[in-house]
Amino acid sequence: MTSCCDPNGLSGVFDAGRAASDVRRYRRKGLTRETRTIADLLIARGIGGATILEIGGGIGDLQVELLRAGAARATSVEISAAYESTARELATELGVDDRIEHHLADFAREPARIDPADAVILNKVVCCYPDMPGLVRPAADHTRRWLVLAFPADRWWIRIGVRVASVLQATFRRPFRVFFHEPAAIVAIAREAGLREAASRRGIFWQVQMLERA
Ligand SMILES: C[S@@+](CC[C@H](N)C(=O)[O-])C[C@H]1O[C@@H](n2cnc3c(N)ncnc32)[C@H](O)[C@@H]1O
Repeated sequence: MTSCCDPNGLSGVFDAGRAASDVRRYRRKGLTRETRTIADLLIARGIGGATILEIGGGIGDLQVELLRAGAARATSVEISAAYESTARELATELGVDDRIEHHLADFAREPARIDPADAVILNKVVCCYPDMPGLVRPAADHTRRWLVLAFPADRWWIRIGVRVASVLQATFRRPFRVFFHEPAAIVAIAREAGLREAASRRGIFWQVQMLERA
C-alpha cells in the first residue's frame, strides 16, 4: 500500500518476514559486501567518538558494527515499522540499544525532526525512493563530515534491468517500484550542499560513494 507516509509501498516489501530473514543472514554471515565496504571506509577515516545517522538502515546491523568500532551514538530513521522493531530487538540483544535513537519516519518528509550527525548513511535506500533529491538533499545537509551512499552502479545492464523491473512492477500493479536515479545527479546534489567526493567503489551491481565536507 502507498500512502502519504510510505510513498512507495515500502512497508509491504520490507516486512516482518524479510526482516527476520535479514537477521538470520547477519547472524550466519555478518554484514553484506557493500555494507562491509561502508563500515570499512568509515572506520578507516576514524569513526571513534563520531555520531551516525542511518536513514533506511533496515535491521540496523551497520549501526551495531560502527558502535562496536567506537562510534559514540547512532540515530536510525526507518520507514518500515517491521524493520524498526526488528532493529530495536537486535540492538537490545547485542547490547547497544542505549546508544541508538530510533525514529519511525520518512526522512524526506520530516528531516527537521532529526539532528545532524558526523556520518550520514543511505545504504541501498535511494533506489527505493521516488523523490531522489527530496531524500539526498536533506541527508547531505545533515552531514557534518561524511555522507556515504550505496546505489545501483552506473552500468548499462543495470539501467536496463532496473527499468525492466519497474515496468514489470507497474504491469502487475505492485505498489513498490525500484528506481535508477542517475549517480551523477546524486553526487551533484551532495556537492551543492558543500560536500566533495572522497571515495568510490563500483561493484558489479552496487556503487558505494563517500563524500566529505570540504
Ligand atoms: C533495500 S532496504 C536496505 C536496508 C539496509 N540499508 C541494508 O542495506 O540492509 C531499503 C530500506 O530503506 C527504507 N527506506 C526507504 N526510503 C526511506 C525513507 N525515505 N526514510 C526512511 N527509510 C526509508 C526501507 O524501509 C528499507 O528498510
